[in-house]
Amino acid sequence: MFRSIQQTMIISCVGTVLMMAGCSGMEPAPSGKSLYDRLGGRPVITGVTDQFVANVVNDTRINVRFATTDIQKMKGQLVDQVCMVTGGPCKYTGREMKPLHAGMKITDGDFGAFVGDLVAALDQFKVPAQAKNELLGLLGRMKKDIVE
Ligand code: HEM
Repeated sequence: MFRSIQQTMIISCVGTVLMMAGCSGMEPAPSGKSLYDRLGGRPVITGVTDQFVANVVNDTRINVRFATTDIQKMKGQLVDQVCMVTGGPCKYTGREMKPLHAGMKITDGDFGAFVGDLVAALDQFKVPAQAKNELLGLLGRMKKDIVE
C-alpha cells in the first residue's frame, strides 16, 4: 500500500525529532531552560560565588592554600567558569584545571571541604535541589583533574 506524501513527511519528521532527542548528549531540562537560567543567571551565580569564596577563606581546613591568592580575581574567574559550563553567555579565560592545580597535592578531603563550602552558599541562596545537584555533578567531573 502506498502512503500519501503527507503521511511520509509526518513519519520522517517524527523520526528526525526522535533521532535528535536521542543524539543530543545533554538531558533536556524539564523546563527547556539552561542550567545557567535555572540557577538564576549571573546575579545569583555572582552572589553564590561571593558567599562561597567567603566560606573558603574562613574554612580553616583549606584556607591556608589561598593565603597568597588574589581572591577578587579568582572570584571573577569562578563566576565566568560556572556561567560558561552551565550554558551561560560567558567565556572562562583562566587557566585549565589540571595544570592550575598540579603540584598542590589536593586531597579528597580538601575537595570535599571546598565543595561543602559551595553547597552551604547554594543553600543560603535557596538554589533549587535539581539545579544544585546538576551544578555539583558538573564540578564533580573536574575532580580527577584536581585531586592528586
Ligand atoms: C571543582 C572544584 C574546583 C574548581 C572548579 C576550581 C577552580 C579554580 C579556578 C577557576 C581558579 C582560578 C583560575 C586561575 O587562577 O587561572 C582556581 C584557583 C585555585 N584553586 Fe581551585 N578549583 C577547584 C578546587 C580546588 C580545591 C579543592 C582546592 C584546594 C583546596 C583549590 C585550590 C586552588 C588555589 C590555591 C587556587 C589559586 C591559585 C593561585 O593563587 O594562583 N581548588 N581554582
